[in-house]
Amino acid sequence: MMPFLRNTWYLAAWSQDVQPGQMLARKIIGELVVLYRTAGGELVAMEDRCAHRMAPLSRGRVEGDRIICGYHGLEYGPDGRCAHNPYGKPPALAKVRRFTLVEKHKAAWIWLGQETPDLAQIPDFSILDIPDDAAAMRRDHVTFDAPWDLIADNLIDLSHVSFLHDGILGNAEMVGSKSVVEEPKDGHQTVTVSRDSFGTAPAGMFDMLFHQDGKAVDSWMKMRWNAPAAFLLDVGVN
Ligand code: FES
Repeated sequence: MMPFLRNTWYLAAWSQDVQPGQMLARKIIGELVVLYRTAGGELVAMEDRCAHRMAPLSRGRVEGDRIICGYHGLEYGPDGRCAHNPYGKPPALAKVRRFTLVEKHKAAWIWLGQETPDLAQIPDFSILDIPDDAAAMRRDHVTFDAPWDLIADNLIDLSHVSFLHDGILGNAEMVGSKSVVEEPKDGHQTVTVSRDSFGTAPAGMFDMLFHQDGKAVDSWMKMRWNAPAAFLLDVGVN
């Protein structure tokens, strides 16, 4: 497996996944992270490991702006410092790492690198900014028990759809479609791969959705990759 890239943005969770008063534990590029919301609704990401005996903070509880460790009750504020010790003065060195987190496009983007984060490099998913009821929209996640780079290889490689997804996303008539690759340019760190098909039988999914009844269509398929882990797939038929 390729090593993880650190100085980049990762989608830690969908905004909807972290409700007030709740915590969400995630392991992101090897880091144990807990996410929660302050009383004011701000989303916070901290190391999911108490400074005392390393208990997962996500197993404790949230009260107001603070996480309370479930082991001995140390309380941590959103800056990661111990704000309250039920047995005496908060130890000066008792703190956990707080990570940079930005909520954008209905998602929580986390920065786990050492370099200064560049907000402009958060991948553009403004397509998600429309109201939920304005489109058929579902934000969810799936788990792969596989190296991340193999998943990336699969998603950026559209030439497999006629075989692996035959009858759903592709078919035999689309095998000859040309792949066009656009390299990063103008400061944008994105790669796109497009495969357009002209006058071919519709992929099964479109036949089902738009009732093409097998009539020939022009179709497009475009995958955008913000390396290492953000992909946007745009597919459709004319
Ligand atoms: S391990 Fe968290 S307070 Fe002791």
